[in-house]
Amino acid sequence: MGSLDDVKRTRHAMTLAEKASLMSGANFWNTKPVERLGVPSIMLTDGPHGLRKQGGAADHLGLNASIPATGFPTAATLANSWDVDLLGRVGELLGAEAAAEQVSVLLGPGLNIKRNPLAGRNFEYFSEDPLLSGLMAAALIRGIQSRGVAASAKHFAVNSQETHRMSIDEIVDERALHELYLEGFRIAITQGDAWTVMSSYNKVNGTYANEHRELLHDILRERWGFDGLVVSDWGGNNDRVAAIEAGSALEMPSTDGVTDLEIVRAVENGSLDEAVLDARVDEVLTLIARTRPGARRPAGTSEVDHDLHHDLAIEAASRSIVLAANEAGLLPLGPESGRVAVIGAFADVPRYQGAGSSLVNPTRLDDPLEALRASGLDIVGHERGFHRRDIPSVGLRRRALRLARRADVVLLHLGLDESAEAEAVDRTHLRLAQNQLDLTRELIDLGVPIVVVLAGGAPVELPFADEVDAIVLGYLGGQGVGPAIADVVTGRVNPSGKLAETYPIRYSDVPSASTFGRTEATSEHRDSIYLGYRYYDKVDAPVRYPFGHGLSYTTFAYSALRADARAATVTVTNTGDRAGEEVVQVYVEAPDAAAGQFRAVRELGGFAKVALEPGESATVEVALREHAFQVFDPDRGEWRTVPGTYSVLAAASSRDIRARVEVAIDGDAIDGDPLDLGRADLSHYLDGTVDRVGAAEFEALLGRPLPGSTWPTGRPLTRDDIIAQAKGRGGFASALHALIVTVSRTLMLLGRPHAANNVRFVLDMPFRSVARMSNGAVDGAMLDGLLLMVNGRFWHGVRRAATAWRAHRRARRAASARHD
Ligand code: BGC
Repeated sequence: MGSLDDVKRTRHAMTLAEKASLMSGANFWNTKPVERLGVPSIMLTDGPHGLRKQGGAADHLGLNASIPATGFPTAATLANSWDVDLLGRVGELLGAEAAAEQVSVLLGPGLNIKRNPLAGRNFEYFSEDPLLSGLMAAALIRGIQSRGVAASAKHFAVNSQETHRMSIDEIVDERALHELYLEGFRIAITQGDAWTVMSSYNKVNGTYANEHRELLHDILRERWGFDGLVVSDWGGNNDRVAAIEAGSALEMPSTDGVTDLEIVRAVENGSLDEAVLDARVDEVLTLIARTRPGARRPAGTSEVDHDLHHDLAIEAASRSIVLAANEAGLLPLGPESGRVAVIGAFADVPRYQGAGSSLVNPTRLDDPLEALRASGLDIVGHERGFHRRDIPSVGLRRRALRLARRADVVLLHLGLDESAEAEAVDRTHLRLAQNQLDLTRELIDLGVPIVVVLAGGAPVELPFADEVDAIVLGYLGGQGVGPAIADVVTGRVNPSGKLAETYPIRYSDVPSASTFGRTEATSEHRDSIYLGYRYYDKVDAPVRYPFGHGLSYTTFAYSALRADARAATVTVTNTGDRAGEEVVQVYVEAPDAAAGQFRAVRELGGFAKVALEPGESATVEVALREHAFQVFDPDRGEWRTVPGTYSVLAAASSRDIRARVEVAIDGDAIDGDPLDLGRADLSHYLDGTVDRVGAAEFEALLGRPLPGSTWPTGRPLTRDDIIAQAKGRGGFASALHALIVTVSRTLMLLGRPHAANNVRFVLDMPFRSVARMSNGAVDGAMLDGLLLMVNGRFWHGVRRAATAWRAHRRARRAASARHD
């Protein structure tokens, strides 16, 4: 099967049952074969920053072991490189590792927009800006797919939080939807040509993403020309037939054929047009035909040079590290820096990835301490200084202070611990652990120069920022984190990373701070288009580090900026005495800087990374993004050019503008239909103070009433409700809820944060998942028994579940006897 004709011929030869069988997995990671017609089973695995291929027990939360694979830096880290070429090279090696393991689909990249710094999977996503997200994702996708392995752009769409992620209804207005939340995907699809897209668990404006015809058909296929396959997130299917109609083909993982049967019945009773099913079948067959993971090598042999891949992991990390502060030029350190004390629990046991489905079993792990010791610096010792968990660490602190007194400089390795950043759980605050803050304070009081090296996939508050001498943001550097940090600290690598997100001063500065993750049924994106720098720059709020910020050991000057509607050119000169790389950022500033208009002050229009020797100049051309002078018109459902005199800026961050030039833009002339960016009833959207938007103003923006934000009470729980809704219902329901919470808390206390988070995650699963995710162990009738138990009819439910279990066991035995 190779060509479109072959796909059609194969599908024509299929029975209805065979077609339906292709619509869900054979198990956790594989599709079903149709042996009679030579249709093979293919394998899909995580992703995104390394292969997580499980040999034995399978799960989607990183619980069970996977084969060793290169753990590259996570997306949040890679994005700081702003290096399209690097992302392409990482993609190629990811693709090669997948291909060597006969994996057809690598489940990544993830490119949801970082709306709030507490979102639990921010470490897996690129940026708060859709252009940067989209271009990074597109490069990674092209790299992966160059090896015959499909990438999967996920999670489509508006998966802005982990709290109640399988049920939350993300309420978002059309402008924010198109200008921010969809734009990165559009770029990834149109420029990366992703062969698959993974729909998200959540609802978008009332409809599950996996059943959202407007998203999956009208926008993805019709508007953007996507010709690949949509796969559900694992266990993310709700109404199977609605999903097929909307454009989602493959349901993962296996449902033991239960939902295949629903599809067959729907076609037979006329509620699903077989032609629609045929289109989905073609998408599966096309994916199988497109992916050729093992084509170049016989199965079982490896084409992966793990040493080479490790080298790229180191390079990728070092190119992504952000030197956030180096006021007195303390860095880089060298032999003249004297005695260096390495302090912190993240120096010898680094944080280099996040928890959940992206958890890679790395081929090796190089820690910073060892790399620093090998770097030629005079390391006088290492002390952890604090427990990894936030418990008082008096003894460790004392030892660290003793060591610091003997040193000329302290390299202080702080970070978020393993429990902080995980799939399915949002963080609850933006602070570092108190024991780390206490130690930092005492070290500052000693007066010894301090370099903070921070590990973590998302911003934290840095209350000590003005009192330490340098801050190195390592993010989550993957398995090569150690040498990468040592190289930057010692100047072997001149840092060139720039922040792909804003570092706020404190959490309360974040526009969605007071509501994020706090509501039950809906998540209202009242902040609309104002997130990250679009918000901070609009209201001119102070920030810790602006979007795009990052220092170098050299300096760059910008000159001779020219621009038109298509591109900007600027000359950049290395004015220091070291070779270095600069990320040239081009922003487009709205006419009159959008004062009094529902519009960001400035938006990233394009960027390029340029390497320069000392004294060298280069003229860089930066293409402007497709919608650089446009906004999305919600009334017409299309992008509209807004006329006026724009400024095109060449900048070293969103707040470090080095040159500006004006460009006059003609608007789209649409008679009698002015685009009203100054609507009086949207006053907080005009000045950007979106933290003050009330329900009425948000309704005015949406043009419809808001749905209830709390879970309905006073009715029995159904299959679509989530287990967390059992709370406070009394009897077995409350007991079930309390049991899950207690087990999770106990695991956390026992120092098993991954297990604790995974137990807690159960609360956010819909009851239907108990059956769907059991690979056939639990059927619908047993689930009904459980629901009766939860809904106050405990004994009745127990009897129903027991009877169903016996019937199910009999049926399975009979089926396996028939099979034998
Ligand atoms: C995650 C996906 C992942 C899938 C398979 C889900 O829980 O949301 O990102 O690809 O599991 O492990």
